[in-house]
Amino acid sequence: MAIPRDFINELIARIDIVDLIDRKVPLKKAGKNHSACCPFHSEKSPSFTVSRDKQFYHCFGCGAHGNAIDFVMEYDRLEFVDAIEELAGQLGLAVPREQGTGKRPDQGLSRDLYELMEEANLFYQSQLRQHTDKQKVVDYLEFRGLSSDVVEQFGIGFAPDGWDGLLGRYRQNLPAQDKLLTAGMLIANDSGKRYDRFRDRLMFPIRDRRGRVVGFGGRVLGDGTPKYLNSPETPIFHKGNELYGLYELKQKHRDPQHVLIVEGYMDVVALAQFGIDYAVASLGTSTTAEQFQLLVRSAKQVVCCYDGDRAGREAAWRALETALPLLKPGDQVKFMFLPQGEDPDTMVRKIGKEAFEALMQKAMLLPEFLFDTLSANHGTDKGALAKQAIALIEKVQDTVLQNLLLENLAHKLGMNSSEDLKKKLGFTVKQAKPLNAKGLQGRGTPLRLAIALLVQNPSLGFGLAKQPALDRLQMTGIELLNHLLDITREQTLNSAQLLEMHREHNQKSTLIKLAQWEHQVADENVLPEFKQTLIWLNNQYIEQRYQELSLKQALTKVEKMQLTKLISIMKGIAK
Ligand code: UTP
Ligand code: MN
Repeated sequence: MAIPRDFINELIARIDIVDLIDRKVPLKKAGKNHSACCPFHSEKSPSFTVSRDKQFYHCFGCGAHGNAIDFVMEYDRLEFVDAIEELAGQLGLAVPREQGTGKRPDQGLSRDLYELMEEANLFYQSQLRQHTDKQKVVDYLEFRGLSSDVVEQFGIGFAPDGWDGLLGRYRQNLPAQDKLLTAGMLIANDSGKRYDRFRDRLMFPIRDRRGRVVGFGGRVLGDGTPKYLNSPETPIFHKGNELYGLYELKQKHRDPQHVLIVEGYMDVVALAQFGIDYAVASLGTSTTAEQFQLLVRSAKQVVCCYDGDRAGREAAWRALETALPLLKPGDQVKFMFLPQGEDPDTMVRKIGKEAFEALMQKAMLLPEFLFDTLSANHGTDKGALAKQAIALIEKVQDTVLQNLLLENLAHKLGMNSSEDLKKKLGFTVKQAKPLNAKGLQGRGTPLRLAIALLVQNPSLGFGLAKQPALDRLQMTGIELLNHLLDITREQTLNSAQLLEMHREHNQKSTLIKLAQWEHQVADENVLPEFKQTLIWLNNQYIEQRYQELSLKQALTKVEKMQLTKLISIMKGIAK
């Protein structure tokens, strides 16, 4: 079921991107555009601009750009279809679907499923207040020490005992019953008789990122088995893609510094009650790659918290294996182990928020946990240790982390440097790729912007100091910028003159394109933006050089001086 192209066009036409963004990121008028500090990277001076004419946003610091749909996808971290739904919702429009060949689940059905799940949720919550058995639930909540605030915040409810607490409400409504069956709320026995899946349980609603209830976890009120009963996989509930508590966390922190992953629903709720309102739980399985991706995109630091017992260590190791290939420069993943017999729920009640957060501070960094575990696994058998370590290190995509782990391993094996190790193992490190180096093809890359700004305002280059780092930077298209910087450094030119000088140049068409490119930088921001792009490019070189140097055991004096010099050049440009 595809969304008709016309509808998407109409949506973009009817949404005003300035209003849309202004509600989330207050904008200031700057010339014909609006600007703000970029919501997608941290910065002190605004390089994020929004154009009402073009219905487009663009950040010259990080290159983020796009239309209203892109903004919602990026800012609210929604998938394309969800972003459309969100925008349509704001305009009070229903998203039409056209018959397609794709096998997407029936969107009409999904919508009904969401509604029914919300009705079930409200029903369970009402039973907590009204049901004749409610006292035993209230007693249990008290026994578990849950405050009424936190019960309300997480929408915890009660599924009454009996076969038809929920079903009974749809006695006359067979279509709704069918859907509740699809949603996993009812079960049909062999003879087709239907009954409630959740009976006599404390109910934890599981919300997706948009806050819609997509499933439940139900706990027995005491010691029965299974302790938790969960919704099965349904068209709207995929355990591996959701995280319990993520929606509630995002309500509190739009841009959380850290996220704590714990194992249980109760842990998330208890931690929140004690003010640690940034915990999430996977849903009774080990943390999946999708869940990790969600987390590292949500916060700078992800702390994985496990019980200190064997099972906890094993779960942590599985999480490490899942995380390794996903990590990008700057991602921080830590591992924290609680004393035997404790889980975050019992622990936070025992020691309180501050002490718990102090434990978090002391969590092990990923490399430490990795090598500790390898040493524990293999003892003095260095060959076996190296073999397992290499298998893991090969999975790492981020070259900085990969080299760091290799250094660590070389050290463990008593080798002088990871160079020896690599030679011995024939290990090839991936080529260091500069970040975002899409060359000139990318729409809004900083390099493209730098060239465009310079072609349109050649005086920017006049008298500018030489940029040695840019000469050495490996990036498609950088030669053109260096060439232009050389020309404009010596003479004052206007754009027409500069272009005229390139009539026969092999990059002429690129230059003309960029001369006309509407880059959306307000006039008064041209100089600061240009400087920012140069800083960004210099930084890219430092990153590249760092990756090269990090292959070495120790920097020579000259290399150290080189890094210092690069940094001072950057400061010079920033002035
Ligand atoms: P735990 O057994 O650690 O439960 O399971 P808990 O969160 O500490 O709960 P309390 O404190 O005993 O009430 C951790 C998670 O594993 C899943 C659930 O998601 C639970 O939150 N689980 C556990 C199940 O799905 N089914 C079970 O029978 C048990
Ligand atoms: Mn527990």
